Amino acid sequence: MDKRVFDTPSDTARGFAEYLLKQHKQKEKLNIALSGGSTPKLLFNLLATEYQDQFDWSKLHFYWGDERCVPPTSTESNYKMTNDLLLSKVEIPESNIHRVLGENDPEQEADRYAKEIAEQLPSLKGIPRFDIIILGMGEDGHTASIFPHEIELIKDSRVCAVGTNPDSGQKRVTLTGSTINNAASVCFLVTGKGKAEKVDEIFNTKGLYLDYPASHISPTHGDLIWFMDVDSLTNV
Ligand code: 6PG
Repeated sequence: MDKRVFDTPSDTARGFAEYLLKQHKQKEKLNIALSGGSTPKLLFNLLATEYQDQFDWSKLHFYWGDERCVPPTSTESNYKMTNDLLLSKVEIPESNIHRVLGENDPEQEADRYAKEIAEQLPSLKGIPRFDIIILGMGEDGHTASIFPHEIELIKDSRVCAVGTNPDSGQKRVTLTGSTINNAASVCFLVTGKGKAEKVDEIFNTKGLYLDYPASHISPTHGDLIWFMDVDSLTNV
């Protein structure tokens, strides 16, 4: 497990931006699944400003690792957040943006999105293979929209499934653990003291770590990199 630790959340976002820039230079096309959350917001803002001119945006195809089942105009939408901070500010072809249609019926959309991913991506052992999947981790140890009460979605053999936020009941379309663990590179972006307890349990395989979906992320044929700030490591 590759841990890259930075002083602040902004430095953590920059650390990932540098990683993405390097990966982007090595390939003609990068299929990337994005995440919602606070650290990705810092990343998207950085990419749209300081890094805008360093990328050939036509090489990047953006998907979402999870999306709330809301319209793309909703303040809850991960697509809206990404579009506001990044996509609307860079020269990226519309056809490179593969959003989850959050306005659709969740189960039907999970099926549709899975088909789009399977059609567009190469596969390994019959499972679509992303080049990079960005993940956050909630304070409950959830990742993407795989929550502890639905931890069976980690081993679910489908490409996508419908997850449920346990607090709000909000439905989300999420990649399953089978798809996430088939990626060439999975990058956690985790910052803040609120994550330190779960990070400690996961890194040291102690406490209730097996109850946390994030602890079951381990690419079978790929890299696992944690981009973190020092605050998220205070318990380790
Ligand atoms: C979402 C995200 C979610 C997020 C975690 C961490 O749709 O909300 O995909 O999984 O990554 O909740 O969020 P923070 O980085 O803001 O703590």
